[in-house]
Order: sequence, then structure tokens, then C-alpha cells
Amino acid sequence: MSNTTLSTSIGMLPILIAPNQILKTRARPVKPTDSDLVRDLIPRMFATMYDAPGIGLAAPQISHSLRLVVIDLMPKDKKQPYSLINPEIVASSEELAAREEGCLSLPGQYAEITRPARVKVRYLDETGAKREIEADGLLSACLQHEIDHLDGVLFVDHLSTLKRNMIMRRLAKEQRAKQDERSR
Ligand code: NI
Repeated sequence: MSNTTLSTSIGMLPILIAPNQILKTRARPVKPTDSDLVRDLIPRMFATMYDAPGIGLAAPQISHSLRLVVIDLMPKDKKQPYSLINPEIVASSEELAAREEGCLSLPGQYAEITRPARVKVRYLDETGAKREIEADGLLSACLQHEIDHLDGVLFVDHLSTLKRNMIMRRLAKEQRAKQDERSR
């Protein structure tokens, strides 16, 4: 089976590239009436994220303005999958940590971002059960990055205007070059 056939059969979703209005919009909470949609989206979001590959994906990145996130820090082994519905940061440490971040909506762009070192996040899992995680390190940064997406915030929004504009210009230039290559 070719990759293309496989991708289609598992329902991959196109990832929005910044700038895009949906990526800047605060997403609405998932309601009980969304359960069919969410059940359909979660496996497709994981498939899309693993294929990219990435370690986190938020629903606005696949054009659904909903408070829904998937995370797996070990995408190659598919070992630690988290689905987070209506995630909320309920506590964050005063201590900060800096880490290089990237984003599937800003392909090829990276910057060091400073955030609280540890967070406590409350959410509903894919079965609707209430859960809480306390995270540090990469998982903490990833949770904050993905929850930012639900509030219309990208990692570059944590940078100075100068740095942000530099990255956005570079991204636009690279995307244009890619498009030119495709149309050739
Ligand atoms: Ni992102």
C-alpha cells in the first residue's frame, strides 16, 4: 500500500500554516454534543501529528476552533498518547525554563521560549473522565504551547516584535519558495 493510500484511509487532516485567522482565534469549549466530532477527530489528529511528525497538535491547527489537544512526546514509538479535552492550566511554577520550540503551523521555524518550568493541567480525557497532570520539562512546555493554541497564541507571540516579524517573514518566504517549486 502506498503512503498516499494509507494517509487517506486513516483520515489525515491538512495543517494550517501561519498566518491564518483560525490560528489567532480563541477556540470554544468542547460540549457534550460535540462527542461524535471529537471521537472522529482524536484518531485523525494523532495520525496527522505522527505523520508530520510532531509531538503535539491542537484542533485549531486542523481548522477546528475547539478546545482539544493531542500530545505524544515519543511520536516514533507512539508510547505516551494524551488526548486533552478542555485543558486548563490550574497552577504554574514561579520558576521559569527556556527551551527551543517549533510548531507544525510554522514549519522550519524555531526559537527559545521562556515559560513556567512546571504546570498543573486539568482536562477531560477521551472517555470524558476528569484528569489532572503535573508536568515539568518537555511535557510542561508542550502542554503550555498547545493550550496557547486554544487561545489563539503561537510560540512567536512570546517573542519581541522584531524577532517575531523576522520569523514570520522567513516563514512566508520559505512557503512561497515551496509553492513555486510545486507549480513548476
Ligand atoms: Ni504549535
